[in-house]
Amino acid sequence: MKTTTPEVCDYTGSTYRVDFWEGKGREYEDAVERIALRELLPAEGRRYIDFGAGFGRLINEAARYDEIVVMDYSATMLQDAKQYLAKQPNAQRFIYVAADLYKLPFAANTFDVGMMCRVIHHLADAPAALKQIHACLTPGSTFVLEFANKRNLKAILRYLLKQQDWNPYDLAPVEFVKLNFDFHPQYIYTALKEAGFTTIRQIPISWLRLGLFKRVLPLPLMVGLDRVLQFVGRMVPASPSIFTQNRIPGDRPPVVSQDAMFKCPITGAALHREGDTMVSTVGNPRWAIRDGIYDFKEPIQ
Ligand SMILES: C[S@@+](CC[C@H](N)C(=O)[O-])C[C@H]1O[C@@H](n2cnc3c(N)ncnc32)[C@H](O)[C@@H]1O
Repeated sequence: MKTTTPEVCDYTGSTYRVDFWEGKGREYEDAVERIALRELLPAEGRRYIDFGAGFGRLINEAARYDEIVVMDYSATMLQDAKQYLAKQPNAQRFIYVAADLYKLPFAANTFDVGMMCRVIHHLADAPAALKQIHACLTPGSTFVLEFANKRNLKAILRYLLKQQDWNPYDLAPVEFVKLNFDFHPQYIYTALKEAGFTTIRQIPISWLRLGLFKRVLPLPLMVGLDRVLQFVGRMVPASPSIFTQNRIPGDRPPVVSQDAMFKCPITGAALHREGDTMVSTVGNPRWAIRDGIYDFKEPIQ
């Protein structure tokens, strides 16, 4: 097993919810992401996971699933999520897990639905994380992935006008700010395939993500236009954000029970619960459960 993993874009202590979303004029982005999710998430499922859920912004799109895992690297984001989601119906369905996408603490066949939005753009080794994700989903499961598209209209124009030095047609990810990457669609589709996923559909979204449009067009019109572009733009997906629907081939077995869903992220051994600690069946690592959040980032010393 690889012992070193790439640096993480750490949101610990971040006020992402109020700094980026609430009152920040991003109702359009939020609305069009929800449209794509409603199209791509399956009608039913036993256990759902939002990888890099942040403060839980999109969790209510998963209301139809029996159990919901809210997973993120940042424990403070998960504390925000707990507060934000406390009033959701059946809030006891939520399981909060702090973990690193490069070292996931979930056993095989733990989830039959997974989703990741606005996270892969922080990953220096996206293919490694996709392999980790694949390993905890069942055959027959659906994984909805959003990624930031480097081959978008604005980037193409800027490149042609020589206002941008990186080439949007180049397959390699571009790191435009430290730990912030835009991806060529083909790079993501290849990484998904190599991880074991079959990509079924793509929906290019957020075509009108420009201050000018937001100033002159009312929100319902922008959302309606985006819906049309999501459909007609599928052949030439040059939007800044793309949602994909991916499946793992095979018949869907039942997901494992909640007692069996965790594994040690260091050794891969099964874990069992003793009070507020998850204890490995092999070796020493022990993992804390604090304020209702499973913490798999650092073992208890
Ligand atoms: C831009 S926020 C998106 C949050 C949420 N998905 C949304 O769309 O509102 C990115 C999130 O990814 C998480 N993240 C970044 N790298 C991670 C990693 N290696 N493992 C787990 N979470 C990670 C961050 O902690 C942060 O909450």
